[in-house]
Amino acid sequence: MKKLQDRQGRNFPYLRLSITDLCNFRCQYCLPDGCHTPQHKTAISLDEIRRLASAFAALGTNKIRISGGEPSLRSDFYDIIHTIRNIPGIETVAVTTNGYKMDRRVERWIDAGMTHLNVSIDSLEPAMFQRITGHNRLDEVLGGIDKALAAGLPSVKVNTVLMKDINDKELDRFLGWIKDQPITVRLIELMETGDMPDFFQKHHLSGLVVRQQLLKKGWTQMIRPDNAGPAQEFSHPDYQGHIGLIMPYSRDFCNSCNRLRVNSQGNLQLCLFADKGYSLRHLLQSDNQQELLIARIQEVLQLKEDKHFLDQGNTGATTNLSIIGG
Ligand code: GTP
Ligand code: 5AD
Ligand code: SF4
Repeated sequence: MKKLQDRQGRNFPYLRLSITDLCNFRCQYCLPDGCHTPQHKTAISLDEIRRLASAFAALGTNKIRISGGEPSLRSDFYDIIHTIRNIPGIETVAVTTNGYKMDRRVERWIDAGMTHLNVSIDSLEPAMFQRITGHNRLDEVLGGIDKALAAGLPSVKVNTVLMKDINDKELDRFLGWIKDQPITVRLIELMETGDMPDFFQKHHLSGLVVRQQLLKKGWTQMIRPDNAGPAQEFSHPDYQGHIGLIMPYSRDFCNSCNRLRVNSQGNLQLCLFADKGYSLRHLLQSDNQQELLIARIQEVLQLKEDKHFLDQGNTGATTNLSIIGG
């Protein structure tokens, strides 16, 4: 079968699937007033997820990232991981989580078939972690990472959103933390979303500033495989861990886009900052619809734009990233 390719010749072996828009954290840049979503009751079911993932696998997708909201809030999270892992062609089942109760749960996720784990930690200082997320749970998140490594995951990625005057003085603390651990800390430039233009203006910090600091400290940029996503990665001979930089405002960021997104209502989203999604849900209702579903995905992909228009202040329909899971 023809693999997923857009008009620009980009390939899409990677699907990010949001299974809920519900989240229990209140990250300042995302859900500062907590989550008030009316849609979570109608999130796609396990059967709908199986059909969707099978269609993407038939189109050459080999990696599925389960995201949210907070995906582990779903009571059938274990079954979702297990179901996706058992679809022929899917080699990587990744999870992005805020780390809630992870110290007690992560071994079960690995048991179910999770192969890769990304965890959000915006500060290694407990009080600042609480200020940013609304939760005093840093220990539980760090405990979960220790357990994941001990249980045999080869590495763990940590997402840290860079924020001026909030966590921009913590680079050395993060570097010290990964000296002897196989952890990649990815520093993500704050992205503007519809909900928070003021917060963005106040706290956005260019990743280029951190890039200079890293180079000065002897970190070097690694060459990444052709199919790697838009993150830049850095290594240092004295450190077991790596640093990643995600700089969506830099030129050409979108040239290496390799991922598509489906949200928890079953809408295919061609870009994180797209104006709208394309519903696939009516084609997820029976196993007999797979051919139609596959054709629809291929057809919609041809509408994908070259790039996002964030630099022009156009944040699309994305009011905050909890809806689509980043
Ligand atoms: P890997 O699969 O491990 O390479 O990581 P990932 O970057 O795809 O996954 P993760 O869920 O950890 O993403 C971290 C964050 O990077 C996202 O939540 C976004 O904030 C940002 N990001 C990831 N993909 C994109 C993208 O296509 N465009 C933009 N603008 N940001 C992205
Ligand atoms: N800008 C950058 N990163 C964001 N995330 C959520 N909202 C934003 C934003 N506005 C990140 C979270 C998490 C990932 C899923 O998305 O920190 O690591
Ligand atoms: Fe924080 Fe992610 Fe929840 Fe948003 S969805 S509040 S970034 S944990």
